[in-house]
Amino acid sequence: MAKVAPSILSADFSKLGADVQEICEFGADYIHVDVMDGAFVPNISFGAGVMKSLNNVATIPYDVHLMIEDPDRWAPEYAKLGAASVSFHMGATHAPVRLARQLRDMGCKACFAVRPAEPVEPIFDILDEFDMVLIMTVEPGFGGQKFLDNQMVKVRRLRDEITRRGLKTKIQVDGGVSPKTAHIVAEAGADVLVAGSAVYGAENPAEAIDSIREKAEAAFKA
Ligand code: DX5
Ligand code: ZN
Repeated sequence: MAKVAPSILSADFSKLGADVQEICEFGADYIHVDVMDGAFVPNISFGAGVMKSLNNVATIPYDVHLMIEDPDRWAPEYAKLGAASVSFHMGATHAPVRLARQLRDMGCKACFAVRPAEPVEPIFDILDEFDMVLIMTVEPGFGGQKFLDNQMVKVRRLRDEITRRGLKTKIQVDGGVSPKTAHIVAEAGADVLVAGSAVYGAENPAEAIDSIREKAEAAFKA
């Protein structure tokens, strides 16, 4: 079953609590929390303090995406706050295996994130250390960018490797996912679909979530 994780980066920050509550009620699977520090990416969003406050309204698990320098230092903070999964970037972490093991020891899923220009193969040798790999289909930093379909080669390669080795690693795709592109990422092998502007920018966010899931499911069956 395809999972949908709306990114609250595209929410209205003046009523963030209500916007989070809404997607929980609308049947989303995870709350995708894009943490940006203005250094690893050219944008600043929110951090652990905001997530802690959202604990008052969130009824579905957090999927935290750290676009920050030094995730080795900060990732455990998000696990402590109850994140179901934490993604950190290939280019930012110093000791990915150590960090993944630390997160897993805390009961949090460890996820490795890969930017559009980064190859996925370097992860293959440590794939069993991770619960999920996040393939970015836009340059990280902003919501509302155009989906990069050239990243599907990477998703397919990763899916083949997971299948060949009989691993349980999930594949998440993040950036430009909408009801129009959901079938493309699902067909390539993604399990978790992140969507920001396609959900929060929709007239009917509940419908957008359903539609993304349905399009992905249909592609699985095809
Ligand atoms: C980009 C973020 C994404 C983004 C998705 O740096 O990691 O999660 O908010 O937004 P859309 O779906 O609008 O591309
Ligand atoms: Zn993200």
